[in-house]
Amino acid sequence: MKPARIAPSILAADFSRLGEEIARIENDVDWLHIDVMDGHFVPNISLGIPVISSIRPHSKLLFDCHLMTTNPDSYFPELAEAGADLVTVHIEVFPDPRPVAELAREHGLGFGLVANPITPAASVEPFLELVDVVVVMSVEPGFGGQSFMPEVLPKLETIRKAVDSQGLDADIQIDGGITPSTIGLAREAGADVFVAGSAIFRAPDPVGAVRALRNEL
Ligand code: DX5
Ligand code: ZN
Repeated sequence: MKPARIAPSILAADFSRLGEEIARIENDVDWLHIDVMDGHFVPNISLGIPVISSIRPHSKLLFDCHLMTTNPDSYFPELAEAGADLVTVHIEVFPDPRPVAELAREHGLGFGLVANPITPAASVEPFLELVDVVVVMSVEPGFGGQSFMPEVLPKLETIRKAVDSQGLDADIQIDGGITPSTIGLAREAGADVFVAGSAIFRAPDPVGAVRALRNEL
């Protein structure tokens, strides 16, 4: 199993002082998870390219951009220019993700596929060779602060087995409702990248909250 990595979701941060919020946890985490929402694919609007380019000079973390939008591929050039390292797009938007994966690579971006809670493992399994990361949603996308859905764990296990049996290097990320009480379940099922928004940024001591998550791994 690869080392566990923690990816705080800035969706739960105080946007009026985003730079400080990131600086506080910068040395204690691995990736920065950036939730982009368009009000179409999900019933919420969050942030976009100007915010990503504003925070880029203030962080050395891997920028993991979770694109909850109906046409994420239209913005790959701008995302690459803004400093995104990795883009993840929903398999529900691209039932055949081969062209979008190729486009991401052309722009020098890492590429991942996200599956909503109801979307079966079989939808992403044919494409595991294309990806750097598979993201298993453990809440309905659109909002932070929701409860973890343990019913996605069997799917996570299935995807883990498929990645391993094909000898692939893809990471498996779990996104939604990760807390000290749920992170261990996701690790046991085979996740290696853990997104946590509320559990980190809504905690009185975000660095302590990261440690509390790591302690459960
Ligand atoms: C939901 C987002 C998640 C969310 C996680 O649409 O994809 O990344 O910010 O937030 P918490 O950790 O609060 O569930
Ligand atoms: Zn996300």
